[in-house]
Amino acid sequence: MSKLLYIETSPRKNRSASIEVAQSFLETYKASGNDNQLETLDLWDLKLPEFDGDTINAKYRVMHGEDPNPEEIVAWETITKFADQFKAADHYLISTPMWNFSIPYKLKHYIDIISQPGLTWSFTPEEGYQGLVTGKSATLILARGGEYSSSAELGAMDFQKPYLEMILGFIGITDIKTILIEPTLVDVETKSSAIASATEQAVAHAKLL
Ligand SMILES: Cc1cc2nc3c(=O)[nH]c(=O)nc-3n(C[C@H](O)[C@H](O)[C@H](O)COP(=O)(O)O)c2cc1C
Repeated sequence: MSKLLYIETSPRKNRSASIEVAQSFLETYKASGNDNQLETLDLWDLKLPEFDGDTINAKYRVMHGEDPNPEEIVAWETITKFADQFKAADHYLISTPMWNFSIPYKLKHYIDIISQPGLTWSFTPEEGYQGLVTGKSATLILARGGEYSSSAELGAMDFQKPYLEMILGFIGITDIKTILIEPTLVDVETKSSAIASATEQAVAHAKLL
């Protein structure tokens, strides 16, 4: 049995290009007939904890091998639940729009919650940083108004794709398939063609899981 965790990041729901392509991926995945499990996290519906002072202190206690105080213990338990839920999956599907050349703050918030020492990564002076979420794979479906793959100049403004691929790699997920939906802030035909091309790739990739 393998588990897919789908992380949905656009608030536009049935008007969202990234969700539309992700739904085609999920339909193919579900139709595959094997006993795969699916869990969905809608980041606009999920109440994420604040990454506040107690949580930061708890993080540094973990990093420095110190004992946390009671408030820090509670804060760290909350963080651990989110990280454990994330780690329970075998494959990840993340659909997200580009916002201001990067990712929406809800997705950054989620990453700030789950990217933690001792939970999803470790550090030792001998080995440096090690990802702890290993043996897994991810599919990224990235919608963007512009066409960042069309030139090096535009590519240099893209902090969505490189950031997501880097942070997933940092926590140990290096088997990543990235599907771009671009450009979307254009005429109807060009947008439809971008969605159709991404859907074709998403369906083909879902069949491989
Ligand atoms: C707040 C906000 C910021 C955006 N910033 C960018 C941007 O920096 N570059 C870009 O190409 N498109 C940008 N867009 C456009 C979206 O990336 C584009 O419409 C995408 O298709 C949205 O995906 P969705 O339909 O799944 O929500 C932005 C849209 C919003 C709402």
